[in-house]
Amino acid sequence: MKILGIESSCDETAVAVLECRNDCEFSILSNEVASQIQVHARYGGVVPEIASRAHCEAITNLVTKALDDANINPSDLDAVAVTAFPGLIGALLVGVNFAKGFAYQYKLPLYAVDHIKGHIASNYLTNDLKPPFIAFVASGGHTSMVLVHDYRKHQVIGGTRDDAMGEAFDKIARVMDMPYPGGAAMDKLAYDGKNPVQFPSAAIKGDNLDFSFSGIKTAALNYINSTKQKGEEINRADIALGFTNSAVGSVITKLDQAFKMYPEVNRLAIAGGVAANSHLRREVTKFSKKHGIELYMPELKYCGDNGAMIAAAGYFEYKNGTPADLNLNAEASRFED
Ligand code: KG4
Ligand code: ZN
Repeated sequence: MKILGIESSCDETAVAVLECRNDCEFSILSNEVASQIQVHARYGGVVPEIASRAHCEAITNLVTKALDDANINPSDLDAVAVTAFPGLIGALLVGVNFAKGFAYQYKLPLYAVDHIKGHIASNYLTNDLKPPFIAFVASGGHTSMVLVHDYRKHQVIGGTRDDAMGEAFDKIARVMDMPYPGGAAMDKLAYDGKNPVQFPSAAIKGDNLDFSFSGIKTAALNYINSTKQKGEEINRADIALGFTNSAVGSVITKLDQAFKMYPEVNRLAIAGGVAANSHLRREVTKFSKKHGIELYMPELKYCGDNGAMIAAAGYFEYKNGTPADLNLNAEASRFED
């Protein structure tokens, strides 16, 4: 079967055509992403209204291009999947309404996809990953620890109590005058650090799998401001390395706790934009080797928002779920178990 995946929850309009064979074998026939990063960079972050407008401008051509690249017509499709939650409401509505119109026109079943489940599903695209597993999902808007019981049955076992991990990377980059979004640049810069600045852990102490990135972010901002006030130059690489060590170390601390809490699970998957971070990838690799855990990581190009991951999550809805009707609405904050 072939499924069209549409994603518009934040600052990327993304459309893909995915072919699914023998249950869980995926071929990505096309994967188009129209990034709005350039548009938002001058404001230092995503401006929701601008994001919605940019999605409106991009979506029709992107769907046409995705179908052309896949060398198919709409009538060759079997289903449409769209991110319906969580995300920026105006941005989500563009994808949801487009998908509803498209599905109605071509008489295709429509499936609503949870963006976080989509990120997790990016691991199914090119890996032979099967549930159960623990997923660590970190992006600009989300940080979640999820116990994936089955392709459609997810249990949130931990998360952030305040800022998302990617947001913390971006904010620290921003105060160091690096362009938005700073996550990838911080990743590179950390390699030049020699004397990492010490920051507090983002792992909340105790019997939980939660994070707080606001404390480490504030500590970094205070350090930067007080250094500047003393008239001293900040060492951006040492800050990037210190922050990375602390953020990644916190993730490893909580993963260690998670696998102790769920000893029957021995697979780990990471996902989301921050899963592209090379330091995180290195440390989860070490952690998994040490504990004999099977590790799955999406290819770099599928870490950030894309339509293929939404199509993959949509495929499992198509197999066992209920299609959405034309009353489907977008929701800014909802996570489906
Ligand atoms: O998943 P994503 O594309 O969008 C959301 O759903 O938010 O994630 C974007 C986030 C941004 O905060 C970006 O700075 C971060 O992922 N990111 C990184 C790296 N590449 C992207 N953070 C750290 N290291 C990276 N290499
Ligand atoms: Zn995302």
